[in-house]
Amino acid sequence: MKILVTGGTGYIGSHTVVELQQAGYEVVVVDNLINSEKSVIDSIGKITGIAPDFEEIDLSDPAMTDKLFENHPDIKAVIHFAALKAVGDSVKRPLEYYRNNIFSLVNLLEAMKRYDIKHFVFSSSCTVYGQADELPVKESTPRKDAESPYGNTKKIAEDILENVVRTGSLQCIALRYFNPIGAHPSAVIGELPIGVPDNLVPYITQTAIGIRKKLMVFGNDYSTKDGTPIRDYIHVLDLAQAHVVALKRMLENKQRSPWEIFNLGTGNGFTVLEVINSFEKVSGQKLNYEIVERRAGDIEKVWADTEYANRELGWKAVRDLDEMMRSAWDWELAMKERNK
Ligand code: NAD
Ligand code: UFG
Repeated sequence: MKILVTGGTGYIGSHTVVELQQAGYEVVVVDNLINSEKSVIDSIGKITGIAPDFEEIDLSDPAMTDKLFENHPDIKAVIHFAALKAVGDSVKRPLEYYRNNIFSLVNLLEAMKRYDIKHFVFSSSCTVYGQADELPVKESTPRKDAESPYGNTKKIAEDILENVVRTGSLQCIALRYFNPIGAHPSAVIGELPIGVPDNLVPYITQTAIGIRKKLMVFGNDYSTKDGTPIRDYIHVLDLAQAHVVALKRMLENKQRSPWEIFNLGTGNGFTVLEVINSFEKVSGQKLNYEIVERRAGDIEKVWADTEYANRELGWKAVRDLDEMMRSAWDWELAMKERNK
């Protein structure tokens, strides 16, 4: 069965392609390579033995998107990762984010309607909860006003999808990711941040390997056990596997309703300092870091209530923080070796 994975050369997409292929699906990857490299297709092939089909297409172009489906009339479902995702950048360039993330979604949905494809898995984010009033956050926890144009594209996309599902032409599962980190245990694929990373874990590994001088820890005056913010970090492999489960649920008509939302987290919150400690433990490296001012827009704490996803999907994140950090470090070391 052929599945279209948009953004499949990206971080989460590439890990999901591996899991899909290993579960027996045939995969077509579409990506415009704005935030990833084509070599990832070969890397996927190294792990699974099969390099997936690849189409270099910008999904914000409706004609190209239509052509993609014309070329692959046997696509049965779409997993949609393709998006711009840098929160700070989205504040500076909101129109690019709306054009890219919203137009791409609409183009895909229109083409899917024309080609009568009914199954859609969407990458949403816990950013839609903002600083929630109740913790842990459940799927029913009210969404807050988005704090960035990026976050708003996720809210708007969820609303568009819900509206389209109501017409009866689409079945959808929206997956709200918490903080994906880590890399494939083979160290053949992982996160490839372009330029200076925004996110904590690639910043930690790049500092430890000498690409960055020092990690800035943004604030230690939050109301948490050590004063640094809390997030629910989830291994990218656990996240990837959840997509295969969600896809099967849809294809086997096991959805409770054609519009479903699931939180994908571990249910455990860790502070920034705990993440650093875990890194130092598994890598044997002392990390150079300094506490600085808070970063604008950061929330204090968030972690998932995973009960609903665990029960309904029969899926549970199983990899712990040390395993996440070890795989992230192995990936950084492998990249250094490759770039020698
Ligand atoms: P990523 O940047 O590594 O992957 C996204 C891919 O989409 C990239 O390869 C990029 O080149 C491609 N792309 C972007 N716009 C495109 C377009 N118009 N046409 C074709 N390809 C396009 O990001 P990721 O971390 O793998 O994130 C995947 C999805 O998960 C995104 O939708 C992101 O918003 C969402 N998400 C990510 C996180 C996270 O922390 N990484 C958290 C929550 C949600
Ligand atoms: N942090 C630092 N120093 C850094 C980078 C991050 O101290 O150099 C801290 C942040 O202040 C925060 C924590 O590490 O407390 C995690 O920060 P990230 O930037 O790694 O992750 P965020 O929770 O801010 O946001 C990420 C993605 C968003 C997504 C969100 C929820 O960047 O796109 O997770 O999925 F919406």
